[in-house]
Amino acid sequence: MLYIGIDLGTSAVKLLLMDGEGKIHKIVSRSYPLSFPHPGWSEQKPEDWIRETLEGIRELTADCDRNQVAGIGCGGQMHGLVVLDEEDRVIRPAILWNDGRTEEETAWLNTEIGKERLSALTANIAFAGFTAPKILWMRRHEPELFARIRKIMLPKDYINYVLTGVHSCDYSDASGMLLLDVQHRCWSQEMLDICGVTEAQMPQLFESFETIGTLKPEMAEQLGLPATVKVVAGAGDNAAAAVGTGTVGEGACNISLGTSGTIFISSKGFKVDRFNALHAFAHADGSYHLMGCMLSAASCNKWLCEDIFKTTDYATEQAPITAEKLGRNRVFFLPYLMGERSPINDVNARGTFTGLSMDSTRADLTQAVLEGVAFAIRDSLEVARSLGIDLKVSRVCGGGAKSPLWKKILANVCNLELEQIESEEGPGYGGAMLAAVACGEYASVEEATAKLVKVTDRILPDPELTALYEAQYQKFRQIYPALKDVFRTLNS
Ligand code: XUL
Repeated sequence: MLYIGIDLGTSAVKLLLMDGEGKIHKIVSRSYPLSFPHPGWSEQKPEDWIRETLEGIRELTADCDRNQVAGIGCGGQMHGLVVLDEEDRVIRPAILWNDGRTEEETAWLNTEIGKERLSALTANIAFAGFTAPKILWMRRHEPELFARIRKIMLPKDYINYVLTGVHSCDYSDASGMLLLDVQHRCWSQEMLDICGVTEAQMPQLFESFETIGTLKPEMAEQLGLPATVKVVAGAGDNAAAAVGTGTVGEGACNISLGTSGTIFISSKGFKVDRFNALHAFAHADGSYHLMGCMLSAASCNKWLCEDIFKTTDYATEQAPITAEKLGRNRVFFLPYLMGERSPINDVNARGTFTGLSMDSTRADLTQAVLEGVAFAIRDSLEVARSLGIDLKVSRVCGGGAKSPLWKKILANVCNLELEQIESEEGPGYGGAMLAAVACGEYASVEEATAKLVKVTDRILPDPELTALYEAQYQKFRQIYPALKDVFRTLNS
């Protein structure tokens, strides 16, 4: 049988066709616009996701026996607020995970409701990108639109709704709404009350590998697929990527260098970060995880190369960064182009190059960007280590993981052995695996990952380079605290 995995990302939707043995037959990618209506705001039209996803499914399955397609699983960008009216029409553009407009609502939740109460109810505190502060923002700034809301959804759930007609959400993605009691896997009535919404407005909750329904007949016809195709609840993209990279079980780790940068640590039991710097979320295999999320990772390099240097030839930009340059750069970059989430939680933070001199080169800037992202990932890793989590090995995925240089920098900055796996298609591969589990191809997510995920390469940290990067990291750590107040003034 064949399974479709969908990765509903921020710059594009990527779809892949996988067979029961885990072999990927075809990959299709279709992009859509991202708009920044104000500095620090970030929106997308759900209609664009639907158009490109449906077209993508048709393209993906154009030359296979469509009757062999048994299941669809989607991993999607998390936290985005999608609101539907009583006829299930989209009310306004989706407010995305990297949108920073909710500074006041986030501060109100963290001080008036209080971090301790939020953490007791949801296992997390408020971050600007989370869904609950966005609901509060809409209630305050768009009361007429707010009054029309009949359903609140997350991005991939809207895709699943269009495919099946079922309003669903899985526990991993729901965790990032700040409306879920993560430990007990149910909506928190108190949080719904605080946000002025009811349980009837929320989607039905499922495990990621559970079937929410089959294709609506008209959708099956439109796509040329059997109406028996099962659609699973799917997962937030990070949990889906964790499945796709085999990051399951106690203490397994995955670093994703995508538009966002995340460090994902899976755990069999429920755990909360006592500093609430890391998110405590449900995993797509039925268990839990801790996660640090930086808002701009591979997107910093994309910005530098494409917007500033006007090139898409990333390899040529990185070619002059030879081994002897590593750990010795005098230019530092703060990667906070969209503000920052973990661990500093500051919507006003911004990107900077520090340490420029007359002899700084274009390659020094590129190197500073790759290193700045690695240092910011290390910031979250340090929080995990301070909780007593002993991390020595991590898997790595996402667009940034295509660069051998970036992986080498990351391994040495973090002092982690990095495992490269056969498929770099983290969320899409994970989505297809979740569908394969629902269709009975595998007994559990754990069994699917054990059978399908293969490590193809290991990047070992080098003690000398790790020591150089340790000194560099200590310098990097001084820059943000020195500029924090300046950023606030610049953005006021
Ligand atoms: C995770 C997060 C991002 C998005 C990216 O908390 O906000 O990783 O899911 O799509």
